[in-house]
Amino acid sequence: VGVPQARRPPLRAVPRSAPAGACPAGVDDPRETLLRRAAGLPGVVSFAGGLPADAQFPRRALTAAFVAAVAQPAASALQYGWPEGEAALREWVAARLRARGAQVAADEVLVTSGAQQAIAIAAGLVCRPGGAVLVEPESYAAALDLFRGRGLRPTTSAAGACAAYVMPALSNPRGWALGGGARAALIASGLPLIEDDAYAELRFAGPPPRPLVADVRARTLHVGTFSKTVSPGLRVGWLVVPPRLQARALRAKRDADLQANSLAQAILAGFLRREDFDARLRRLRRYYRRKADRLAASLRRRLPSWRFRDPEGGFSIWVETDVALSEIHLLAHAVEAGVCYDPGSLFRADGRTVPLALRLSFSAVAEDAVDRGVARLARAWRAVAREPAPLRLTGRSA
Ligand SMILES: Cc1ncc(COP(=O)(O)O)c(C=O)c1O
Repeated sequence: VGVPQARRPPLRAVPRSAPAGACPAGVDDPRETLLRRAAGLPGVVSFAGGLPADAQFPRRALTAAFVAAVAQPAASALQYGWPEGEAALREWVAARLRARGAQVAADEVLVTSGAQQAIAIAAGLVCRPGGAVLVEPESYAAALDLFRGRGLRPTTSAAGACAAYVMPALSNPRGWALGGGARAALIASGLPLIEDDAYAELRFAGPPPRPLVADVRARTLHVGTFSKTVSPGLRVGWLVVPPRLQARALRAKRDADLQANSLAQAILAGFLRREDFDARLRRLRRYYRRKADRLAASLRRRLPSWRFRDPEGGFSIWVETDVALSEIHLLAHAVEAGVCYDPGSLFRADGRTVPLALRLSFSAVAEDAVDRGVARLARAWRAVAREPAPLRLTGRSA
């Protein structure tokens, strides 16, 4: 790949920060090998992973909530709990969904070990093995992997699908809301709808839109998480299923891991009791919007041939190009230049690598490193363009 061997450090077993949901299925995947290599290198500007910014973890408040939870005379934070989860958390989730127009009671909320487990349980409830799942043309990589791992086929056509998996409020990797026409078509499809609301609270323009679960309660399996707004390390998310599926969802949760982590749930419940959560969200939206704007401006200046639409929220910008070049080749050059990102094929329903696309996550990059990272990307892009096997253009200039 044109990377001098002598400058390659050995692969570290444990990356400094594991990419969230962007790791493909196996460690023998060259994309993952490169991402892991980059994560272990000092000084690399990482647009990979889609991680929340370390600086935004409410460390002091979580520490106080942790101390209070462990000190409780009842010791429930250190004890087993019921599979459905902590009552205060369930009520908190239900109240926020009701404020968005959904008829959801606290006892209909299942606390899960992150949104990822909620997606897994939901898929198990409504997808037949061997079936097809309707997804957006680009979708959340770890959900696509999960579906494939269960013998399900991600598809962009509703015909023959057993369910749909969508991010209507804000999609990953595009960072857009689902358009009105697509939403109406989904509702009319009659399919069970797995609604992944992970980024809904991080729309730059303000509060989240009306969720699908508010309009199609009987067919929607609604997934949420505290990973993006509080901390993914706590591993707490939730699932709301149609009433007829509730008993099966509870059984699936218990079979998987008995219950979500008691301590993490107690910490979150204590944190949410004291936190002005909406004020926190307003701060987070401003913070991530600033980073998104920086990245967009830098890309427009340094890589004018790359196409993207400014995100409406979330952590990433989805970039498309018109070139048909090996994405692993560019990624290797980028890592060599001191920058990394998630290759676009990870997010494509059909897994295709051309035309070349990339997901650049601005969320965890220090603001003053954004432009440096893009300059390195531009250097890698130029280096690849100079090579004997040049870029093969499929349309516009690159
Ligand atoms: C769209 C989407 N859904 C779900 C998840 C998983 O979140 P959790 O950390 O709650 O498992 C992610 C994490 O990156 C995500 O981007």
